Amino acid sequence: MTAPAVKPSVLVVDDETGILETLRILLKNEGFTPHVALGGRQGLDQIAALAPDIVITDVRMPSVTGLEILSAARAKDPDLPVILMTAQADLRSAIQAVNEGAYYYIQKPFVNGDIVAILRRAAEHRQLRVENRSLRQEISRRDRNSASQPVGRSKAWLSVLRLAETVAPTESTVLIQGESGTGKEVIARYIHQLSARASGAFLSINCGALPESLLESELFGHVKGSFTGAMKDKSGLFTAAGGGTFFLDEIGETTPSTQVKLLRVLQQREVIPVGGTEAVPIDTRLLAATNRDLEEEMKRAAFRSDLFYRLNVFALHLPPLRARRDDIPLLIDAFLHRAAQQRQTEPKRLTEAALDAMQSYAWPGNVRELENALERAVILSEGETIDIGTLPERITERRAEPLVTSQVTAANPTLDVIERAYIMWVLQSEGGNKTRAAEVLGIDPSTLYRKLSRYGVAE
Ligand SMILES: Nc1ncnc2c1ncn2[C@@H]1O[C@H](COP(=O)(O)OP(=O)(O)OP(=O)(O)O)[C@@H](O)[C@H]1O
Ligand SMILES: [Mg+2]
Repeated sequence: MTAPAVKPSVLVVDDETGILETLRILLKNEGFTPHVALGGRQGLDQIAALAPDIVITDVRMPSVTGLEILSAARAKDPDLPVILMTAQADLRSAIQAVNEGAYYYIQKPFVNGDIVAILRRAAEHRQLRVENRSLRQEISRRDRNSASQPVGRSKAWLSVLRLAETVAPTESTVLIQGESGTGKEVIARYIHQLSARASGAFLSINCGALPESLLESELFGHVKGSFTGAMKDKSGLFTAAGGGTFFLDEIGETTPSTQVKLLRVLQQREVIPVGGTEAVPIDTRLLAATNRDLEEEMKRAAFRSDLFYRLNVFALHLPPLRARRDDIPLLIDAFLHRAAQQRQTEPKRLTEAALDAMQSYAWPGNVRELENALERAVILSEGETIDIGTLPERITERRAEPLVTSQVTAANPTLDVIERAYIMWVLQSEGGNKTRAAEVLGIDPSTLYRKLSRYGVAE
């Protein structure tokens, strides 16, 4: 899952050139990027200048000691692992140092294999801490997005909202499926807001963003010492979301081992922290989402069917944006108003050509793609109006060439070609009656007129 870190950089601090040289060669051979500092003073300078991934330092040095190196390193970066090398006589201060946050101490003289093993673990530990940090950022980023209310009045979207409103006040687990960018998280928050748990927390995690071990410790918590870096007991997100709602995003990305544990949580309503034995009861409403087809995944045995049925107590399928084109103008309007609010200006407007292009584009990335396209256009257009030139090219490519059947029978017709052929077919089978055709297609007559005129179909 996580790419192995580029060669972790290790700063070696010692006042004996022999040791520096030995370690430099050893570390280089073992896939690290070594830096050496002769004595504590140089060590301090290099910690500041190099920002190494790991520091390994002698304890007893004249002028600046290993303990001072330790505290300087921790002041600069609390996630920076520091390993102390000590002679027998300094054992007490080394143990003391570990209590103060040193990662490890190793006795001189050391066996090469030992020091390499410790450095590898330190590098892994470092990696986990850095990922943890980005996880925290991810969580707060999501919090900032909490304001977005579901926009849309198309039939397809309203029926999703009605279902969401029906299930919201219950305690039922809900599985939200839909293509990427269709609003799964928007709906999850909507359900939370309309539930009895609305005043509680809404926490979420992206199951695809973390390696298994880190994901499990975030979900279930862990007990002190259960893995390198687990300095104390920590409760998981299931517990942290107590009284509220927990949203498991991208649940299709979980491994079989995590799936078994999730199943247990759903059945027993309790979690067992990583490395622990005692179950902790939870009081959390669970919502889950995925853009994978879980039924397909079950057939391939990539997703446990017992977990699927536990999650799928209530199923919501979000329509892709191309199946609810009537919502496009509303979404555009909402996003332009939001942009205006953020910039404290009047909302910009789309030219007819720009609106047209957006109405007929296939939106494979759904609402998110539309939101991003508008954000970009707002920035690029200088005046009050947004013209076609500020939209991404894929959206504005001309598609007005006359429809020929060969395009449809081509190996990979674009959605647009298929849409056009489908519309013409419906229109024909409705005897050319546009109002009836629009009804069959589930779109506004005005939308149909616009499309037809773009296809060059005479009134
Ligand atoms: N109906 C909607 N009304 C307003 N904004 C929406 C709507 N649907 C989606 N959005 C916006 O589009 C973006 C994508 O929505 P969201 O994150 O909920 O999609 P998703 O289905 O979870 O996508 P992914 O599978 O890529 O995670 C968000 O910025 C969200 O605010
Ligand atoms: Mg999402």
